Amino acid sequence: MITNPIVENILARRSTRLFQEQQIEEEQLETLLEVARWAPSGGNNQTWLFTAVQNKDILLKINELVREGFRHWIPDDDYPGKLGAKASSAKENYNFYYHAPTVIIASNRPNYENAMADCSLALENIFLTAHSMGLGSCYLNQLHWLRNDEKLREYLFELGIPRENTICSTAAIGYAVRESKPPVRKEGTIQIIK
Ligand SMILES: Cc1cc2nc3c(=O)[nH]c(=O)nc-3n(C[C@H](O)[C@H](O)[C@H](O)COP(=O)(O)O)c2cc1C
Repeated sequence: MITNPIVENILARRSTRLFQEQQIEEEQLETLLEVARWAPSGGNNQTWLFTAVQNKDILLKINELVREGFRHWIPDDDYPGKLGAKASSAKENYNFYYHAPTVIIASNRPNYENAMADCSLALENIFLTAHSMGLGSCYLNQLHWLRNDEKLREYLFELGIPRENTICSTAAIGYAVRESKPPVRKEGTIQIIK
């Protein structure tokens, strides 16, 4: 297999679920938002909106609204992650962004077929760049699941996320407390036809 700094960075990136309190630097945040903008997008639409939140009180308020939203949220399928998150959210110490000091919410225009794909590609740019700068990161699904929760959306609207936007993907960013172990990669997920 060929290796170079980009391949090494991809293989070494891990999801972080334990963050230090220390905020990331301004220049790091600027870089993360800039690489997000340079992700590919369907038809070069670039209809995404990246909202970075670094205010602890605002993040805690969003967490409260997520907990409240989960209480009366009925998952539309039996995806274990959804059921697990709903169950965990009942715990007093539940924090869906793992107390990361920076959270980036990617939203997009409604009824746009590539909304999720575009935002998720942008998030991978964020994750890989974060890793290259010595930062940890994690994909968060909760705001996407609760994207139609009225109270949550009202608060996100107050923060500047348009009511009509669909919430796609969210990134938790910060310094990791420790390195996460690489989860095993499943066999049988690659085919080469020549
Ligand atoms: C679409 C998607 C949704 C995810 N949602 C969550 C989440 O809500 N919370 C979380 O802790 N991790 C979430 N993850 C992270 C995965 O659990 C993680 O990528 C996977 O276990 C592989 O670990 P790695 O990223 O360290 O390689 C999500 C990842 C993806 C791609």
